[in-house]
Amino acid sequence: MNKINILGIETSCDETSASVVADGREVLSNVIHSQIMEHRKYGGVVPEIASRRHIVKIDDVVSAALDEAGLALSDISAVAVTHGPGLVGALLVGLNFAKAMAYAAGLPLVGVHHIAGHIASNYLDNAAWQPPFIALVVSGGHTQLIHVRDYDDFVIMGKSLDDAAGEAYDKVARCLGLPYPGGVQIDRLAQEGNASAIDFPRVLLGAGSLDFSFSGLKSAVLNYLNSAKMAEREVSHADVAASFQQAVIEVLTKKAMMACEIAGCNQLAIAGGVAANSALRAALEQACSKNNITLNIPKPIYCTDNAAMIAAAGYYDHIKGRHAGLVLNAVPSLALS
Ligand code: KG4
Ligand code: ZN
Repeated sequence: MNKINILGIETSCDETSASVVADGREVLSNVIHSQIMEHRKYGGVVPEIASRRHIVKIDDVVSAALDEAGLALSDISAVAVTHGPGLVGALLVGLNFAKAMAYAAGLPLVGVHHIAGHIASNYLDNAAWQPPFIALVVSGGHTQLIHVRDYDDFVIMGKSLDDAAGEAYDKVARCLGLPYPGGVQIDRLAQEGNASAIDFPRVLLGAGSLDFSFSGLKSAVLNYLNSAKMAEREVSHADVAASFQQAVIEVLTKKAMMACEIAGCNQLAIAGGVAANSALRAALEQACSKNNITLNIPKPIYCTDNAAMIAAAGYYDHIKGRHAGLVLNAVPSLALS
């Protein structure tokens, strides 16, 4: 039987990415053009620059994805594209490119929710993983615990009430003088530090709550650094990084275990940029093995933004015939439904 090849396109933030995935699982290509160096000097993503860079790169990135897959447009079954949430100008570049391609080639168009994409990264290069499972989504914009009851059936069990985990990483990294994006920098620096050196707060928001709050922790780190500066006390940045990271990880791990217990589910998946964090991966492995939970962690390259995850999510809509018309629009705060 012929394979169903989905062309995925992702431009919701600062990665221009295109990918071809066969039958929702087999990654034939995954081309990612990162704009990090262009945004680094501003300390974060500048939306206007992101949109302009996507426009410059999208054509080459999509062509490269088809070339690397060794396929022509005539071998593609559908075009899947992120249409929210994200930066509106950035989303519009990928969306309009996908619409034009689908129209010109007579292919169906599938609109994908960015977080549904992150969740679907667990299916990539993995023939066995399937719902139901709990997904811990930890990215730059989202921290959520989601009960994935089926490929297209999501129940949000908990979410961040303020900063996302990745946002807290990036802000703390900035205060430590580390370049954007800070998550991976803290990950590295923390490996040289003592995780129990500083007792930063673990905000649990009451017994039984699956919501998160990281802004208090971020402020505690800033206060610690400011007080040390005022007192002209020397601070070990590695200890600060390790202790901050330990506080984040303890809360994420505890709540992920609680979510599995509440939902009566013994499969946990992790997704989003912070899922690339080495200490979080290790802590979850330990907690899951203690609690008899099967853990799935995507390869780091599938954790940060990429189009393979969008193609994987789009596949499940495509086979159910859920296609979008050319009226599909970019929705910066699209809800997961
Ligand atoms: O999922 P993603 O690529 O983009 C969004 O959808 O937001 O996540 C980006 C976030 C950034 O905050 C970045 O600092 C964080 O993921 N991140 C990490 C690591 N790699 C990326 N955080 C902690 N440890 C890492 N190794
Ligand atoms: Zn993302």
